[in-house]
Amino acid sequence: MVSRRNKEQQKTNSISDYRSDFPILTREVYGQPLVYFDNGATTQKPRCVLETIQRFYNEINANIHRGVHKLSDESTLEYENAREVVRGFLNARKSSEIIFTSGATASLNLVAFSFGEVFVSQGDEVLVTEMEHHSNIVPWQLLCERKGAKLKVLPFDENGELILDELPKLLTPKTRIVAVTHVSNTLGTVNPIAEIVRIAHSQNVPVLVDGAQGVKHGIVDVQQLDVDFYAFSGHKIYGPTGIGVLYGKEEWLDRMVPWQSGGDMIATVTFAKTTFNELPFKFEAGTANYIGAVGLVTALTYYSRIGIEAATSYEGELLQYAIERLSEIDGLTIYGNAREKAAIISFLLKDIHPYDTGMVLDKMGIAVRTGNHCTQPVIDHFGIDGTVRASLAFYNTFEEIDRLYDALVKIKAMFG
Ligand code: ALA
Repeated sequence: MVSRRNKEQQKTNSISDYRSDFPILTREVYGQPLVYFDNGATTQKPRCVLETIQRFYNEINANIHRGVHKLSDESTLEYENAREVVRGFLNARKSSEIIFTSGATASLNLVAFSFGEVFVSQGDEVLVTEMEHHSNIVPWQLLCERKGAKLKVLPFDENGELILDELPKLLTPKTRIVAVTHVSNTLGTVNPIAEIVRIAHSQNVPVLVDGAQGVKHGIVDVQQLDVDFYAFSGHKIYGPTGIGVLYGKEEWLDRMVPWQSGGDMIATVTFAKTTFNELPFKFEAGTANYIGAVGLVTALTYYSRIGIEAATSYEGELLQYAIERLSEIDGLTIYGNAREKAAIISFLLKDIHPYDTGMVLDKMGIAVRTGNHCTQPVIDHFGIDGTVRASLAFYNTFEEIDRLYDALVKIKAMFG
């Protein structure tokens, strides 16, 4: 199918030429070429990531930090090199500020527990926003219940933008931390992190950023943003599942208690007392996902080589085109119209249930997510049951958006 975009516009398609690096994108679903628009849930993996994982298992595999033998040495070197690559990717000051976890959820839970145990007491306050993913709400809720602290919420407006004027009013001498998402996984809103940090720091309140969707949206420089914590998952940035990162400023991490305990995170153990390892190992109990870490840095290196800003800019063009085309469909409502928006579109087609729309799209070869996207408060804000969400990546094309448009027109006719 030929997209309606003119030839001049189609020149910008070149970034999606990298599409051929992703083997899965050639497959068919129900006899139709796959259109993968569920990148907010997980991204697909380029061949280099798959090959790295296979090479590691075939040639190196051994547990890290433990063996005296050659393989363990090589494995450890690759793992610690991966940490250094992540440090450079986020521009952290020290590699000891990079903790490998199983994903963004684990990173957020780690901070909620380890920071919360030390710094949050009865009567204190934790501030989250109305657009958080459940994984940046529930760990804080559990902490607040445990400690007798209060969870406060910064609201967003009808466009899906945080009401920043409310932020200084919600910060009090009792606020211990602000936890905010970089990019909303449901609305696509890109939050003004530097501004939020400036306001919070002016009251001496640290800021944790959930970067699950944000890390692939432009270059993240944790020193420039001056965030205190930044969490992300490997699988949402073209890396493997089961690996994630927590960046934390040393001054905080040093004072926090361990989260999980076991091997590798200790310095000495007796039945009378245990002392803990230095950073970052204090927060990495048990056998780390070293192959995941190496797969992740292959993905980060690949993405950096393509050009994160070029990829983000191309996704922005895809987004604009998708908004234009979908807006042509009478009765289609888009939720989330922030001025700064990542390539995520949540919508409803008339009064057709999002699950029905998603099911029929699937039969047409188009993968989207439906429901509350683990952000029930966002869905409640709009008084709806859920949305259909198309979340894009740089390997998507304008032609695929045309296929979504055509499919939605058919679904609308089908449901009368
Ligand atoms: N948090 C992921 C999403 O937004 C799973 O789909």
